[in-house]
Amino acid sequence: MKKKLLCLVLTAAVGMTMFAACTSSENIPETSAPTTAAANNGGDTGESKDTEAVAVGKKVGVSMPTKDLQRWNQDGSNMEEQLKAAGYEVDLQFASNDVATQVSQIEAMINGGCDVLVIAAIEGDSLGTVLATAKEQNIPVIAYDRLIMNTDAVSYYATFDNLMVGTKQGEYIRDALDLDNAAGPFNLEITTGDPGDNNAKYFYQGAMDVLQPYIDSGKLVVKSGQIEFDKVATDAWSTENAQNRADTIIAANYSDGSNIDAWLCSNDSTAYGVANSLTVNYSGNWPIITGQDCDILNVKNMIDGKQSMSIFKDTRTLASKVVEMVNAILSGSEPPINDTSSYDNGTGIIPSFLCEPVFADINNYQELLIDSGYYTEADLA
Ligand code: BGC
Repeated sequence: MKKKLLCLVLTAAVGMTMFAACTSSENIPETSAPTTAAANNGGDTGESKDTEAVAVGKKVGVSMPTKDLQRWNQDGSNMEEQLKAAGYEVDLQFASNDVATQVSQIEAMINGGCDVLVIAAIEGDSLGTVLATAKEQNIPVIAYDRLIMNTDAVSYYATFDNLMVGTKQGEYIRDALDLDNAAGPFNLEITTGDPGDNNAKYFYQGAMDVLQPYIDSGKLVVKSGQIEFDKVATDAWSTENAQNRADTIIAANYSDGSNIDAWLCSNDSTAYGVANSLTVNYSGNWPIITGQDCDILNVKNMIDGKQSMSIFKDTRTLASKVVEMVNAILSGSEPPINDTSSYDNGTGIIPSFLCEPVFADINNYQELLIDSGYYTEADLA
């Protein structure tokens, strides 16, 4: 608790550069955790000069799932910018949410001489064959944000604490409805993410660990009856799919004028679809809606009172951790790791670095998103 408070104070005082170091260096000596700024400026520190020596003539393949969702564009451009600043050549590709495209882009990266691959998988289970080729050629693979499953070719994993994301969403609903004290019952609906994305199960699990006891006791009622992961998943995390499912749920369960008190949404693209559906189809009190990513459209919805919270995952922090991992791998030193127990990809535990996700709402978005330089006022206007 004290540590979190200290982090917030530091954030307010010195911005996101310090914040990145503060949230993400549990087991790492300060000196081996360069700040985002150091990674960004390609810098004048002794450390980044060493990095440049490591990077000379080295190429990093960065495979991102899609340009359709805001965050992957940011992740891609942060990775490219920070890797280039460190002296690497970069092959950055986006795969249009199409697994076959992602596989052939990775093949091209291998054939094109990439020394390390950084991959945010569209479908965690579909890269085994192509990554076997990477392993044969001794090309290390870092799973970026999403764990790549059932292949022993993955060396490291860098992500945000995915379970914690879900826990924060569940706790938000619990506290906003005061579930421990209020009489209830309250109506809840649930929308989570793509079943092929390993993260989606963690987000769902983290939230349900908090909310399931209230469902079991009858304090929370899911009128649609759709509670299990498979029933509440959203293919491709698509806004349209989330909206269509919400249309059906509202028509079948809430056209009698009953209120929806909360709608657990695992991320912003699905939250946006649910909010769209509510705007068109629903006349009751506006529910609490959760989200994740602090996408611009959703922060605007937050400002307009149409989304209650989001989770801020500073993609600059994640990118700078992955650049550190790349540097360490290529210089033969130990990459930053702060978790060696949570993420088993089916072949064993993958050593991971988990960045800390941060709660965002109408009260702190200014400090978190604008003062830190993540967005400008104009972005959110
Ligand atoms: C990411 C989320 C994102 C979702 C949809 C997940 O793997 O962790 O931040 O909202 O994919 O792109």
